[in-house]
Amino acid sequence: MKKSSFWAAVFPAALGVLLLAGCGGPNRRIPNRIQVGVACYNQSDTFISELMDSFKHQLTAFEREGLTATVTLKDAAGLQRIQNDQVRELLDEGCNILCVNLVDRTDPSEIIDLARENDVSIIFFNREPVHEDMMQWSELYYVGADAQQSGVMQGELAAEAIHADPRIDRNRDGKIQYVVLEGEAGHQDAIIRTERVADTLKNEGIELEKLGSGVANWNRAQAENRMTQMIGQYHNQIELVLANNDDMALGAIDAYEKLNITETTCPVFFGIDGTSGGLQAVKEGKMAGTVYNDKEGQAGAMARLAAALVTGEGLEEISFDSERCIYLPYQKIDGENVQEFLGDKH
Ligand code: GAL
Ligand code: CA
Repeated sequence: MKKSSFWAAVFPAALGVLLLAGCGGPNRRIPNRIQVGVACYNQSDTFISELMDSFKHQLTAFEREGLTATVTLKDAAGLQRIQNDQVRELLDEGCNILCVNLVDRTDPSEIIDLARENDVSIIFFNREPVHEDMMQWSELYYVGADAQQSGVMQGELAAEAIHADPRIDRNRDGKIQYVVLEGEAGHQDAIIRTERVADTLKNEGIELEKLGSGVANWNRAQAENRMTQMIGQYHNQIELVLANNDDMALGAIDAYEKLNITETTCPVFFGIDGTSGGLQAVKEGKMAGTVYNDKEGQAGAMARLAAALVTGEGLEEISFDSERCIYLPYQKIDGENVQEFLGDKH
């Protein structure tokens, strides 16, 4: 090809690329807006709604001259089919990063395909997809916490309380009669927390007798119902209530309060999350302890990751615990340190 005809061929093409980048083109080339599309499994979940408040707040820290940050939040109200449609809408509305709290953690394929077609990265959070699904595409991330740790910590808190106060074993038979309130069937946190809390108590030398358990889907009202049924069945035999989260521990406490059961025949209650209601109950001594599920840390990691993925800046500074996954540590909370968590930061 002659020199002149080479430039005649290349120049218009190069100009076209420049023009495309200048007037729209793929979102990632013009990072003047971080437009986050968030899909939540259920906004009426207390922990998720507190996590979202923190996320919206922390994302604003990434705004600067020429860079805006907006969040559009959709609530699937517990239906995966609805969530798939909502992700499609978020992409149509121009979101350039997705944060997805799957309804069904085993069923992310449709959402992954949609995101990939639009070249928009996904930060899954709180409900962890299985490893094979995380491997479907290199633009998939996860922010959450290690469920094992929360179960172990809840067990340690309960063991400490039982060792410190022999009155918890009310019938003095040397065993702790307990019930468990479980989150959703199939949820990694529910399964692992239930297993690990009992193992930890046993390792700490506590003899256990499980009276029963009930699935209450992380929900306070459902937990109150399940607990009322179990009180009907086991009367004053229950010495310990282990709930997979604070809302369910609060629901169990509601059941005892509504039945006017006095403190001397009440079990001790433990939750997980450190929601504002949970922290308050620990402060008032109604709940013996909880485990902080670091919503501030998780929301902060999501915001930093979202900003980095959109702008292309700062990704190298983010440290991942395993490939593309970030797990924030849990912390034990009881009457001694609850005040630290009730401050502004949390
Ligand atoms: C857990 C949390 C629960 C509930 C659940 C939803 O990590 O402890 O309260 O929010 O996630 O997936
Ligand atoms: Ca006992």
